[in-house]
Amino acid sequence: MPITDAMRARHVVRQYLDKPLPDDVVAALRSRIEEDNRAQGTDIRLLTGGARVFGPMWGTVRARSVRNCLVMAGPDASDLDERLGYGGADLMLTAQELGLNTWWVGGTFSKKAAARASGATGRVVAVVALGYGATQGVPHTSKRPDEVASYDGEAPVWFTQGVEAALLAPTAFGKQAFTLAGSGNEVTIRCQESAYAGQDRGLVKYHFEAGAGRDNFVWAP
Ligand SMILES: Cc1cc2nc3c(=O)[nH]c(=O)nc-3n(C[C@H](O)[C@H](O)[C@H](O)COP(=O)(O)O)c2cc1C
Repeated sequence: MPITDAMRARHVVRQYLDKPLPDDVVAALRSRIEEDNRAQGTDIRLLTGGARVFGPMWGTVRARSVRNCLVMAGPDASDLDERLGYGGADLMLTAQELGLNTWWVGGTFSKKAAARASGATGRVVAVVALGYGATQGVPHTSKRPDEVASYDGEAPVWFTQGVEAALLAPTAFGKQAFTLAGSGNEVTIRCQESAYAGQDRGLVKYHFEAGAGRDNFVWAP
């Protein structure tokens, strides 16, 4: 799969219009969520029309404009964050293709409120606000490919395209705190230790795969 228009067009949007999601958009989202939950063993839920997942501490004007969100949850496991990041990337890009904007929120929301409102089981890791944005956002400041990636020998086209896509992924605080190293058809990803490393890892892996083509390489164990 080439780097999609959705990847290039997606930017964080933190303020939303008070415009409800049409039924067909909700149906398309729900069906994709079901697929991703099945593939990733997660319990991602969609909350529409008045999701109150930002506690009083975070009730900023822009957060108050959020009407819909995904609650990113699942049975606790050491790789849960990564699987939610991976499935979440797929859902953010699906939402973008449906004409929506998104905002991955790993910290500034209430896990309790999100679990209560959605009925999601297991550990809640993040929420992803979604809806019709007040703007389309702007491209994040990005590192250069050579700052995050290296290849043993001359890099094949798939590796270069994978890195380009990985740099489009959302990461915590926009830090892009990951590296990608290629050798033959094997790619190693490392994320700097942090509370958000697992989520970043899943998000970046999804983007790299979409850019590089899943059949061209394998992830190093
Ligand atoms: C794991 C993760 C956690 C995040 N947590 C927050 C958050 O708590 N609050 C917030 O305003 N933005 C949060 N963001 C959004 C990032 O700041 C944003 O995605 C990043 O600056 C890159 O911009 P982009 O999404 O336009 O590519 C988070 C993003 C990720 C990937």
